[in-house]
Amino acid sequence: MRKKIVAGNWKMNTTVAEGVALAKAIVKQKKEVSKDVQLVVAPPFTHLVPVAQVIEGSSVALSAQNCADQPKGAFTGEVSAAMLKDAGCAYTILGHSERREYYGETSEKLVKKMALAFENGLKVIFCVGEKLEERNAGHHFDVVSTQISEVLFGLTPEQMADVVIAYEPVWAIGTGVTATSEQAQEIHSFIRQTLAAHFGGKVAEETTILYGGSCKPSNAKELFACPDIDGGLIGGASLKADDFIAIAKAY
Ligand code: PGA
Repeated sequence: MRKKIVAGNWKMNTTVAEGVALAKAIVKQKKEVSKDVQLVVAPPFTHLVPVAQVIEGSSVALSAQNCADQPKGAFTGEVSAAMLKDAGCAYTILGHSERREYYGETSEKLVKKMALAFENGLKVIFCVGEKLEERNAGHHFDVVSTQISEVLFGLTPEQMADVVIAYEPVWAIGTGVTATSEQAQEIHSFIRQTLAAHFGGKVAEETTILYGGSCKPSNAKELFACPDIDGGLIGGASLKADDFIAIAKAY
């Protein structure tokens, strides 16, 4: 059975004290969530170490939101995959649409980042998704398959075991507009077929594919009921423990 994951992407929100309080509340409430669901929190870099201390010994896993495309050295302002591992991360998000859009994250850079994440024992939550104009032009399948082939097709099937894909249509992120469960299922199934065509059925069947984009307690159940949706990458609604837990309880 594929792993179900509900991951909270806190983005550039919360002070350290607020982040620690949020993590404590999640740890406290996680007993309400099915044991089959892996909870992940992705706070800002400055919060990783204190949040790691809060979640230690719980089943909640820590993720970064990004990592450097270089291993170490004179790269002012960057944080390496080795540092993230040392800070207690099990995962890093890579290729979030905000990074692609605002920080020039290309597939070429993502290939390097992914290799460094694996070298340092991190799993990767790899984000893909089309913009509104791309969907309106009917290009969403092409956009997503290109994002996948450019970055993931260089990996081995063994490495794919450490990749979680998050499909996040850009038009649904932070907008309050969610993809319908039909739209989401359609593209999740397409992603799985794309993986099957390249890696074979086993990898395709075993890869966890999350939905992200205005996922909230009121729509999580319908989305998560789709056969190819294995959980969610949650932005805004992950900043309140009650909402984050309510989403995870949709399973
Ligand atoms: P949102 O963000 O839930 O606030 O739409 C999701 C994401 O960007 O990961």
